[in-house]
Amino acid sequence: MSNLPWGNNQNLTDEEFYNRDYELNNLKSLLETTSQGHAPDILLTGIRGVGKTVFLQKIKRTLEKDYLTIYLDLSHSECFQKNNMSINGLMNYFFTEIMKECHKQNITTLDKKLEKYFKSNDIKIREFITIDKIQLPIFSLEENTEKTMNFVFNLPEKIYEENQDKIKGIIIFIDEFQIIKELGKYKESFLWKMRSYIQNQRNVAYLFSGSTSLQDKFISEIAGQNGVFGGRMITLQINPFDKETTRNYLNEKAPEIIFSEEGFERFYKCTKGIPSYVNIFASLLPTNEELDEKEINNQFNKKITAISSHLINIWTRLSYREQTIIILLLNEPLKRIDIANKLNISSGSLSNYLINLQNQDIIHINNKKYEISEKILKKWLKIEYEEKGVYPYRQI
Ligand SMILES: Nc1ncnc2c1ncn2[C@@H]1O[C@H](COP(=O)(O)OP(=O)(O)OP(=O)(O)O)[C@@H](O)[C@H]1O
Ligand SMILES: [Mg+2]
Repeated sequence: MSNLPWGNNQNLTDEEFYNRDYELNNLKSLLETTSQGHAPDILLTGIRGVGKTVFLQKIKRTLEKDYLTIYLDLSHSECFQKNNMSINGLMNYFFTEIMKECHKQNITTLDKKLEKYFKSNDIKIREFITIDKIQLPIFSLEENTEKTMNFVFNLPEKIYEENQDKIKGIIIFIDEFQIIKELGKYKESFLWKMRSYIQNQRNVAYLFSGSTSLQDKFISEIAGQNGVFGGRMITLQINPFDKETTRNYLNEKAPEIIFSEEGFERFYKCTKGIPSYVNIFASLLPTNEELDEKEINNQFNKKITAISSHLINIWTRLSYREQTIIILLLNEPLKRIDIANKLNISSGSLSNYLINLQNQDIIHINNKKYEISEKILKKWLKIEYEEKGVYPYRQI
C-alpha cells in the first residue's frame, strides 16, 4: 500500500504535504507584512480538491508562533449546517472561534480593557460553556445585525492592542467563503459592511478562500476593480499539479505504482493533476505491475465511485429537479430557455435551482449556456447509467 494521504484529509503532515514552495513563500511574505502594520487582505482561489485548505493549514502552522492565527471554515458554522444562514449566525460563529483560538494560544481576552469594550457595546455575558475543555463566555449578541458586526469585526484589533507584547499581529483565514452566497439578498450588504470594518485594520490580516470556478462572478464581486474591495484585494490562485509535478510526486511517494508512458498520460488525463483525485486514484491502483493505458481506463471506471465520493455526497443532497437539470446537461451545455422547455416549466421558476447549483460550483455559465463544472461527477453519472441503465437519483 502507498503512503499517500486520502483525498479528504484536511490537515497534512509536513511529510505528506508536497511541493507548493513558491506559493508558500509568496503567501508567507505577504502575510508577514502584518507585523509592520500593513495587514493585507487576500483572496485565495482554486478549484475543488486542489489543496487550498491543506495549504492554509500549513501556512497557519508556520505563522502560529508569532501571530494569533484563526482558521474559520464557514461550512462548520451551525447556521450553515442547520440550513439557516444569517449574518448574526455567522457573527456568532466568528466570535466563538476567535475566543477559542485565543484561549488555545494563551491570548488574553478577559482583561479590564476588553471587558470594557464588551460593556460599551452592550454585549453581556449570558453564560459560560465548556468547549475543548475551556470555559467560554457566551455573549448575548444583539439581534441588531449592524451592532453585532461592528462588535465582532472590531474585536480582533482590540485583542491585538491588548496583546502586542505577545503577538506581531492577527491573521484570520476564512475558508469556504463562497458559502456567504447563501446569504442571498443580504450577501451584498454583508460584503460591503465587512469591507468597511476590516479595510483599515492595520494589524489584522484577512485571507478568504473557497472553491470557485474561474468564471464565477463572485470573485470579481469581491476582488475585481468594481468589486467590494475596489481592486485592493490581492488574489492568489492554487493550481492543480502539472504533469511533471504529478510524476515526481508519485515517483517519490508511491514508487510501487508503475506506469507505462501511455498509462501515466492516461492517469494524468483522468485526474487532471488535482491532488485529491491524484491521491485517491493512486491509492487504489494495483502495485508492482506495469499499468498501461487500457488498465488505467479499466481501473478508473472500476474505482470511480470512490474517486467521486465527495461529489456523490453533494449529489445526494440535491433536489430531484436539480438532479434532473444536471442529467440534461450531461450531453451538452444548454441555454436557460432550453432547460425550461425540456423540463416543461417556465424559465422564471428555474432560477432557484440554477442559483443553488451555481452556488455549489456544480454548474457554471459559459457563452450564455449552462454547463457542468465537475468532470468527475459527469463521468460517474455516465458510468452509473451505462452499468445500471438508470441514473442514480437516489442513493441507498
Ligand atoms: N500539497 C499537497 N500534497 C499532497 N497532497 C495534497 C496537497 N494538496 C492537496 N492534497 C490532497 O488533496 C486533498 C484535498 O485538499 P484540500 O481539502 O486542501 O482541497 P481544497 O482546495 O480545500 O478543496 P475544497 O474546495 O473542496 O475545499 C487533500 O486531502 C490531499 O489528499
Ligand atoms: Mg477546502
